[in-house]
Amino acid sequence: MAKKDINKEPFHEATMLKLDIFRKCFREWFPVFVHHSSVKKIFIYDMFAGSGTDSEGNPGSPIILLEEARGNKRQHCADLAENHKHVVFGFNEKEKEKRELLDKATEDFLLKCKSACPLEKCVYSNTIYCRDASFEEIMKSEKFRAVLANKSYAKFVLLDQYGFSQITKDVFLKLATSPLTDFIFFISSSFIKRFRDVDAVKTYIDTNRLDFEEKKPKECHRIIADYFRNLIPADKEYYIHHFTIQKGANYYGLIFGTNHTLGMEKFVKVCWMEDENSGESNCNIDNDFEKGSLFYNPTNTTKKIKIKEELELLILNGKIKSNIEGLKWVLSHGCEPKLFVDVAKSLVEKKKVKIQGRFNRQSSNIHRVEEYKIEVL
Ligand SMILES: C[S@@+](CC[C@H](N)C(=O)[O-])C[C@H]1O[C@@H](n2cnc3c(N)ncnc32)[C@H](O)[C@@H]1O
Repeated sequence: MAKKDINKEPFHEATMLKLDIFRKCFREWFPVFVHHSSVKKIFIYDMFAGSGTDSEGNPGSPIILLEEARGNKRQHCADLAENHKHVVFGFNEKEKEKRELLDKATEDFLLKCKSACPLEKCVYSNTIYCRDASFEEIMKSEKFRAVLANKSYAKFVLLDQYGFSQITKDVFLKLATSPLTDFIFFISSSFIKRFRDVDAVKTYIDTNRLDFEEKKPKECHRIIADYFRNLIPADKEYYIHHFTIQKGANYYGLIFGTNHTLGMEKFVKVCWMEDENSGESNCNIDNDFEKGSLFYNPTNTTKKIKIKEELELLILNGKIKSNIEGLKWVLSHGCEPKLFVDVAKSLVEKKKVKIQGRFNRQSSNIHRVEEYKIEVL
């Protein structure tokens, strides 16, 4: 049976949500590096790019990346021109026919864009490279490896694979250990759960390390995300967050990885914009009261309560000793760091802890936060 082609029909609602998260994630990421003085070049990769649109002309991931790299007021083009900063788009689509359609879609995008652009020269002329290689081939290429390894280049890597087989342990670790490289990938988590004993699945994922709870089907993508989290060496500071997308009876998901707190702050923010309860799904993963219902209370959701309680214990047991440690702990658990400030403030008010240093309430840009120590009373 021929494989279904996502670009040959209208995008499903769940696909639209996935694309929207890609869009918002990149929207947050891109300007950071446009304005980052030590970054010389920006590389944006879409490794499973598709043909550019769905059957109704809705933009797919490569066109979304181009739209966002322009900005809603073309502000990024103006800034790039002013800063003489170079951006390279690497779009890859294995199917030749789809690659040709992708060429056409990117050309059409640029033509239309240029026709309304006040800049003399388009900053994206001759910067879009479309290929029809297999992803495995690209991962092995010296050229790509050199870009990944370059500390002056910022890299955004989007991996919208079908299924699960392309993001192997080696691929994941290669991306996670490359400097200035943030990535987001799609994975069919329900499929892995259902076929975890099949050799074809075991070849790609060590399913012995997956502990699915049969009674909690909604949580299968959490388990998959933990599998990837656990691949990161324990002594490496690294951030991973995930988002579960329910489509009918199946659960798919996104996994985002970054080695910088700012990258994580941005992605976590996007996830909480989508899901006010848990910041991680479109399916009310923790079974909170739904919006519009009598007891709906987004300030005290299951996830927020759990994280606050765990954090309070860690502080009182002396395991978290400073605001920086606390902010990072909250962030690494997929919550917005402001939760730490709430907990710290409440412990101070209850006279359970004392702050050594200036008690600041900063909870964003945490790489720049002034540190204070927490003394348990
Ligand atoms: C889920 S679709 C991507 C859709 C795209 N992101 C969009 O928004 O339209 C996955 C794409 O990857 C392509 N593909 C499959 N295996 C591949 C491989 N090994 N390397 C590169 N592309 C591949 C498929 O032809 C398909 O177009």
